[in-house]
Amino acid sequence: MCGIVGIVGRKPVSERLVEGLERLEYRGYDSAGIATIFEGELHRRRTEGKLVNLKARLKKEPLSGNVGIAHTRWATHGAPTECNAHPHFADGVAVVHNGIIENFSELKDGLAEVGAKFTTDTDTEVIAHLLTKFRRDGMGRLEAMHAMLKCVKGAFALAILFEDDPATIMVARNGPPLVIGHGDGEMFLGSDAIALAPFTNDITYLNDGDWAVLGETGVQVFDTEGKVVTRPRQISIATADLIGKGDHRHFMEKEIYEQPEAIARALAYYINANDNDLTTISTDIGFATVESLAISACGTAYLAGLIGKYWFERYARLMVEIDVASEFRYREIPLSPRSAALFISQSGETADTLASLRYCKAQGLRIGAVVNTRESTIAREADAIFPILAGPEIGVASTKAFTCQLAVLAALAIGAGKARGTITNDEEQGLVKSLVALPRLMRQVLNDIKPKIEHLSRELSNSRDVIYLGRGTSFPLAMEGALKLKEVSYIHAEGYAAGELKHGPIALIDQNMPVIVVAPHDRFFDKTASNIQEVAARGGRIILITDEMGASISKLPTMHTIVLPNVDEIIAPMIFSLPLQLLAYQTAVVMGRDVDQPRNLAKSVTVE
Ligand code: F6R
Repeated sequence: MCGIVGIVGRKPVSERLVEGLERLEYRGYDSAGIATIFEGELHRRRTEGKLVNLKARLKKEPLSGNVGIAHTRWATHGAPTECNAHPHFADGVAVVHNGIIENFSELKDGLAEVGAKFTTDTDTEVIAHLLTKFRRDGMGRLEAMHAMLKCVKGAFALAILFEDDPATIMVARNGPPLVIGHGDGEMFLGSDAIALAPFTNDITYLNDGDWAVLGETGVQVFDTEGKVVTRPRQISIATADLIGKGDHRHFMEKEIYEQPEAIARALAYYINANDNDLTTISTDIGFATVESLAISACGTAYLAGLIGKYWFERYARLMVEIDVASEFRYREIPLSPRSAALFISQSGETADTLASLRYCKAQGLRIGAVVNTRESTIAREADAIFPILAGPEIGVASTKAFTCQLAVLAALAIGAGKARGTITNDEEQGLVKSLVALPRLMRQVLNDIKPKIEHLSRELSNSRDVIYLGRGTSFPLAMEGALKLKEVSYIHAEGYAAGELKHGPIALIDQNMPVIVVAPHDRFFDKTASNIQEVAARGGRIILITDEMGASISKLPTMHTIVLPNVDEIIAPMIFSLPLQLLAYQTAVVMGRDVDQPRNLAKSVTVE
């Protein structure tokens, strides 16, 4: 979603503001802008589309000034035009905003009645007009800021410049994160630590409800009541190096190939490789005694949770209630306080997932957060944090975070089974041994399948629709394969449980329909093989992703077969993710898509 950057200091800021915005491009956006104060006056440049347009504008019309705020906008209210792009101005005030002001309509009517002239379709503009009004009413800057925060409802991260105070930036947070960066004679602000990586790693996270004043030598933070509070400083691990593309064309490609290393890091946290057992996870959520488990998440993280459900039910004999967070939060599910809940989120900031977490907390459940960002809101509000340790994921389409989420969920399910006595020590050791083999097997698969995938992706790029099928854990994986393809290539794709085919989707099959079947040689293989025959009988073009065993014993009517090594059932979802991710990636590359920033998508979805 929208990205915010700010700098206040003694050196020109405009180029560095754009550099910070470039670090936030991964979040998704459709227009951008910056504002500075120079010689006592506010100035701004805004453009539609990508940052190249803003850079071109700044080249023609440079912007001076040692204090400034910048923004990439992912449109919610109003089209992604230059006029709707942030910063928004109203008489001496400039505002950038990430989030949604829910009561903007009534505020707008009230402000219009007292003479405010609105020039955009955005919800954000009311903030600028509210501040101007309060200043005209005689309030000082701090007082006006506090009064404005009392009026607005919704989710927001804000950065504000007052023309009559060229030495400070005011900021506020209620929902979407804001990070303050401490520099040498200058202060920074960003939507996340990645934006600030080129400037500083000395950071302070604002809490929900905080607002603050940044000057060149420091920051003063206030809570909702306006009381001065102290927030800790910490060193961020997001270095400029860690978030480069290396030798890869796209972040998505880099992140796909980083998976063996990322999974090894994640597993090392949960597994004692010498003894093939789990380390004692000190932040347990009472798996031994809980009645059941609730899981909620969005998108790819939800599909990881769905695979986790199979594992928790099978190995820990725990009933799992799972739903996408946008439904979970409103279903009024009757949950027992003797249950636990897991929330899975790469960013740790997804609005619906956070709301589901708060619902479960209010019902008295113990809360676990499976997150990539340990400083995130979801992590901070949980009783136990289960880090996935994937490292920064910049490509909008999640790849390494997904497989690391799976690795962590597998470890947790085994841990829960052990704690509940539903698996024996030998079974635990066998399962852990399989997990330990993952990084090596993933490396091997990534090396082996590239040529085959390149060939297939050219063929797939001519398709209008694609169906993915699977059974057991390969069913959620089929949905993840379809999600990945539609996100980055814009080809319409759907994943179905193979057994559901006859109940409707089979009507779609004809000779133009590629059907990608995810079928390791597991207990479901023979049944999936029958479904393959049914598709072939109707002319469907089958691309089978199986293992050596599946390929050797079957004489299936497939158009193409991708053969992976035989692996234990618990690690099959991570191994079989690789061809699905690469196929989506390569197809999008062949089609010339913007792989790392697909249209309309945002990386961190901080509004519902
Ligand atoms: C798809 C993708 C999204 C996210 C979803 C949840 O490739 O990345 O579906 O998985 O928006 O995001 P997080 O995990 O940050 O809560």
